[in-house]
Amino acid sequence: MKTKTSSKKVNKAWLHDHINDPYVKLAAREGYRARAAYKLKEIDETLHLIKPGQLVVDLGSTPGAWSQYLRRRMSPDGAAVGALNGTIIALDLLPMESIEGVTFIQGDFREADVLQQLEVALAGRQADVVVSDMAPNLSGISSADAARVEYLIELAIEFSQNHMKPQGALVAKVFHGPSYNDVVQHFKSAFSSVKPFKPKASRDRSSETFLVGMGLK
Ligand SMILES: C[S@@+](CC[C@H](N)C(=O)[O-])C[C@H]1O[C@@H](n2cnc3c(N)ncnc32)[C@H](O)[C@@H]1O
Repeated sequence: MKTKTSSKKVNKAWLHDHINDPYVKLAAREGYRARAAYKLKEIDETLHLIKPGQLVVDLGSTPGAWSQYLRRRMSPDGAAVGALNGTIIALDLLPMESIEGVTFIQGDFREADVLQQLEVALAGRQADVVVSDMAPNLSGISSADAARVEYLIELAIEFSQNHMKPQGALVAKVFHGPSYNDVVQHFKSAFSSVKPFKPKASRDRSSETFLVGMGLK
C-alpha cells in the first residue's frame, strides 16, 4: 500500500512538472514530437557537430524528436519538409511515425540481423555523426540495469568504430550509476576527446547525462 501511495505521488509530481515544463510547451509550439529535441539541439549548438551534407545515424530514435532536429538542421532553410541536404538513418525497437527524408529501421540494435539492415542502409558509407538516446526498460535492479545500459553503449561505441569516419563524433545518453565510470573509460579508450554534457533540457532529478566522443583513436 505504501509503495502505491508514493508511486501515485511521484506520478502526480511528474505530471505537474511535465505540464509546466517550458521545453514541453516549446516542443508543442515548434512541432517537435518530444522535448528531447532540445537536448540534442543544445549539445549541437555548443559543439557544432551537425552540418548539412552529413550522414547521421540516430539510434533509439522513437518517437523521432532527434531525427526531426537533425532533419531541420540539414535542410537548406531549416524546414521540417522539402529539400534535405544529407542522410539520416534512424533505428528503434518501436515503430516511428515517418519523417520526410529519414530512413527508419525497426529492430533491436543488439541483434545481428538488425545491425545488418543498418549496414545495408549505409551502403558502404561512413557516418559523420552517430547519436544514441537508447535507454533500455529498467527493471529497478540496479546492477542488472547498469549492465543493460553499459551493453547498449558498448554496442554504440563498437558501431561507431566500425562505421564512422575517423574524425566523427558519437553522442550517447548514459546514466550516473554503478556503470558510469566504466562507460567513461570505454569512451576514453575509443575517442581522442570525451566531453560529458548535461543539457538544460535534461531534468535535474534525472540521472541521465550525455557523453560526446570526438575523433576515433
Ligand atoms: C528516450 S527514447 C528516445 C527518444 C528520441 N531520441 C527522440 O528524440 O524522440 C529511447 C528509445 O530507445 C529505444 N531503445 C531501447 N533499447 C533499444 C534497442 N536495444 N534497440 C533499439 N532501440 C532501443 C526505445 O525503444 C526508445 O524509443
